[in-house]
Amino acid sequence: MAVKDRILVLGPTGAIGRHIVWASLKAGNPTFILVRDTPASVNKPRLVTAANPETREELIQSFQNSGVTLIQGDLNDHESLVKAIKQVDVVICSFGRLLIEDQVKIVAAIKEAGNVKRFFPSEFGLDVDRHDATEPVREVFEEKAKIRRVIEAEGIPYTYLCCHAFTGYFLRNLAQIDITVPPRDKVFIQGDGNVKGAYITEADVGVFTIQAANDPNALNKAVHIRLPNNYLSLNDIISLWEKKIGKTLEKIYVPEEQVFKQIKETSFPNNYLLALYHSQQIKGDAVYEIDPAKDLEAFEAYPDVKYTTVSEYLDQFV
Ligand SMILES: NC(=O)c1ccc[n+]([C@@H]2O[C@H](COP(=O)([O-])OP(=O)(O)OC[C@H]3O[C@@H](n4cnc5c(N)ncnc54)[C@H](OP(=O)(O)O)[C@@H]3O)[C@@H](O)[C@H]2O)c1
Repeated sequence: MAVKDRILVLGPTGAIGRHIVWASLKAGNPTFILVRDTPASVNKPRLVTAANPETREELIQSFQNSGVTLIQGDLNDHESLVKAIKQVDVVICSFGRLLIEDQVKIVAAIKEAGNVKRFFPSEFGLDVDRHDATEPVREVFEEKAKIRRVIEAEGIPYTYLCCHAFTGYFLRNLAQIDITVPPRDKVFIQGDGNVKGAYITEADVGVFTIQAANDPNALNKAVHIRLPNNYLSLNDIISLWEKKIGKTLEKIYVPEEQVFKQIKETSFPNNYLLALYHSQQIKGDAVYEIDPAKDLEAFEAYPDVKYTTVSEYLDQFV
């Protein structure tokens, strides 16, 4: 059997990083994680996240029990980064939105280490080279695009993972603010509800990321995850939900000017969430043609992956 690449996950305790670690282990890749001593980010404001039952320490312990190699280090400790990177073939970064620009430090460490076959910068959203998002998310997308340009200028081999909307952020409440389960009486819909978005569970993001990491064809490409059963408009999803609960919801369509006003008048995290929904539901940032010279469509490249469909995901809330 061919020897699998060694994969280092930066940000393994984060909302998405943990799923990349589990998927890497499951695929049989020797898996390494960089963990810092003091979790200074514990109290930082966070977006809604799906319930993760374990503590950070329990998670790290279960990684180690499952065969993950733990390396102590910190993004801000260059030597520790270089030392970690020298031990692996592929580096996957899943740092949160506040650390996007700081990834230049990883690029510098990869350059110095000189051995990396592939770098996945922290993306895990829309294609940051194809969007029309508004603030406050626009700034983060622009930072991600800037990091792409740094990687390309430095000649570092890369894959950009464009997975669009995590179910934990967009679907568990049907893109509503301040609720954590799908509504049963009324639903607010940005725009006319007919624009297609792409949805994926966080666990499946991990699986597709590792598929791409093990796929030589994904080298220097963006991988786009728009799975046939999950590439749906909000109206499609609401009608799926209505069938499941046997009830018709009252629908309140919110025009774009009203959405802009709401974004302006609310604070983090709701303004951020509203802007994410706006990008997908009004601007249609998941709707585009790919360019085979620089893009891969995941469901075509990895047809054997059994993913969770939107319908299956919603079943847990019925
Ligand atoms: N498509 C979507 O729907 C969606 C939704 C959410 C996020 N995203 C994207 O997914 C990516 C990951 O976001 P996330 O929310 O999963 O991130 P997160 O939960 O904030 O995770 C951050 C990770 O970085 C680690 N970290 C922070 N500072 C560090 C340092 N100085 N040195 C080493 N490690 C450090 C944290 O470790 P500690 O345990 O030590 O704090 C944690 O493991 C981002 O690009 C974000 O924009 C997409």
